[in-house]
Amino acid sequence: MGVPGAVPGAVEALRLQLAWGADEALAETPQDRLTAPAPPAGPPTTSPGAPAKPPGTSLGTSVGGPAVARAWALANRAATREELRAAIAAFDGCPLSATATNLVFSDGNPDAGLVFIGEAPGAEEDRTGLPFVGAAGQLLDAMLASIGLDRKKALIVNVLPWRPPGNRTPTDEEITLCLPFLLRHLALVRPRRLVLLGGLATRALTGRSEGIRRQRGRWVEIAIPGLPDPVPTLPTYHPAYLLRTQAAKREAWADLLSLRRVLDADIDKSHALTNL
Ligand code: URA
Repeated sequence: MGVPGAVPGAVEALRLQLAWGADEALAETPQDRLTAPAPPAGPPTTSPGAPAKPPGTSLGTSVGGPAVARAWALANRAATREELRAAIAAFDGCPLSATATNLVFSDGNPDAGLVFIGEAPGAEEDRTGLPFVGAAGQLLDAMLASIGLDRKKALIVNVLPWRPPGNRTPTDEEITLCLPFLLRHLALVRPRRLVLLGGLATRALTGRSEGIRRQRGRWVEIAIPGLPDPVPTLPTYHPAYLLRTQAAKREAWADLLSLRRVLDADIDKSHALTNL
C-alpha cells in the first residue's frame, strides 16, 4: 500500500534497498536517484554497446537437426499466443518436456510492451506452471516494484518452458530447441523493450558469448524474426544470482534505473506524439 505524500515507488525502492542489506544512510540530505543525471549506460539510441548478433549465434554449431526444424515449423505456424502455447505443449522434441510437471509459458501482461526473459523454471515454477514464483521471483517482484512496475506492466517468460531436472544448467541443445518458441512468442507480443535476466538468457538472445558481467547495463538491439525493427534490450543480472551475490546489487540497481529512465522517455515520446 502507498504512503500518503510519498513519491510513487519510493517506499518500494527503500524496501528493496533494505532487503539488499542497506542498513544506514550515508548522507544527511536525501538524493533523488530516480531523477539523477543519466550514467553512460543510456537508452539504446545513445548506447555505445555493439549491436547483438542473431539470437542463438553463440550456441554450439553442432546443434540442429530435425527436432530443431520441427520446433521452428511449429512455432512459426502459431498465429496467436494460445496457438503457440498449444504448439509447445504438443512438441515432443525436447526431452525436458517428459520430466517436467508443467509447461511454464508466461505470466504478466502480453500487451505491456515490456518483456523480462529468465532462464528456466525451477521447482516452484514447475509445480505451479508460472514463471518466477519462487525466491528469485519474489526478488524480481521487489525489483519491479522499486521502479514502479509490477506483473500487470510487463510480460515474464523464460528461454526454456520446462524445468531441467534438479535445476541443472540447460544444455545448448535444449536452448536451441526452445529458442524458436521464445522468438515466436516475442514476435506475437511485439515488445518495445526487453530485459534479459542473467547470463543464459543474455547469451541466447544477444548471440554473444561474453559473460553477463561484461554485457549487463548496456542496451543492445536484438533482431526478432517477424518483427520489422530490432528491439532495444537490456541485459542484467538474474535475481537468483543477486540473492547470493551482495556485491552485484549496486550494478543491478543501476540497471533498474537505466530501465526506468528509458521507460519514462518512451512515455514522454508517446505523449508528445498524441499531442501533435
Ligand atoms: N529462474 C528463472 O530463470 N525462471 C523462473 O521462472 C524461475 C527462476
